[in-house]
Amino acid sequence: MSLFNRLLKKRGIEGESTGIDPQNVPNHIAIIMDGNGRWAKKRKLPKILGHREGSNVLKKIVKYCDKIGVKYLTVYAFSTENWKRPEKEVDELMDLLLEKLKNAEKELGGDQAQIKVIGNIKGLSTEIQKEIKRVEESTGKNSGICLNIALNYGGRDEIVNAVKDLITDVEKGIIKKAEITEEYFSKKLYTWYLPDPDLLIRTSGEKRHSNYLLWQMAYTEFWYTEVLWPDINESYIDEAIIEYQKRNRRYGGV
Ligand code: IPE
Ligand code: IPE
Ligand code: MG
Repeated sequence: MSLFNRLLKKRGIEGESTGIDPQNVPNHIAIIMDGNGRWAKKRKLPKILGHREGSNVLKKIVKYCDKIGVKYLTVYAFSTENWKRPEKEVDELMDLLLEKLKNAEKELGGDQAQIKVIGNIKGLSTEIQKEIKRVEESTGKNSGICLNIALNYGGRDEIVNAVKDLITDVEKGIIKKAEITEEYFSKKLYTWYLPDPDLLIRTSGEKRHSNYLLWQMAYTEFWYTEVLWPDINESYIDEAIIEYQKRNRRYGGV
């Protein structure tokens, strides 16, 4: 039996793996779940069914990441720029998000996962805000993976908000301008409680940040696939991790 399977067994999980080195599983994986629209279009389905299928895939991936020992998973669900989409799509997406949050304990692995939302939450409907509060409280004591859902999230928006907070701290005399460090700054971000991502996975072939975790991904390893998000399964996560484990992370050193 491989080391990895022994590790799984120790955690009470039976099953075959995968080729992942269990000693070097990324602590924090970020995902840009892209390609739902193209997935639906290919099948001549309404776009929302692509988003719905995408959310089913997320549930599987949360469970799998938890199983293999990933501690933090941060997924891009709705960007600050996604409001530019047609009103019908935005409305349907918000309805879907609300539905998933309401059933997060079942639908997003919330029976074990600790679920949190990052982003400009005040810009969401009061109903969604209420549900976010509920889910965060109800899953807050779970001991499994920490699932962070980026909702109405934009990296630039996050940085601007952090700067405003910093200015307030300086004005109030909580800190002097000269004393501000990178660490202090990073505690003002939506992700203040998170380590930086080790690995970014982006599906559907796009090779850009799209305003995701701009500060946090300074030294994150990127992995892209042409596969559309609703077609993703556990084996692609393995593929990404195996590739990640071959990388030499130098952080600017030698
Ligand atoms: C990603 O899928 C999900 C969201 C942005 C909400 P898209 O809707 O961007 O899918 P494509 O890129 O059009 O295929
Ligand atoms: C990024 O995907 C946002 C989410 C996956 C939620 P987009 O589809 O919005 O990104 P662009 O427009 O292709 O850069
Ligand atoms: Mg897209």
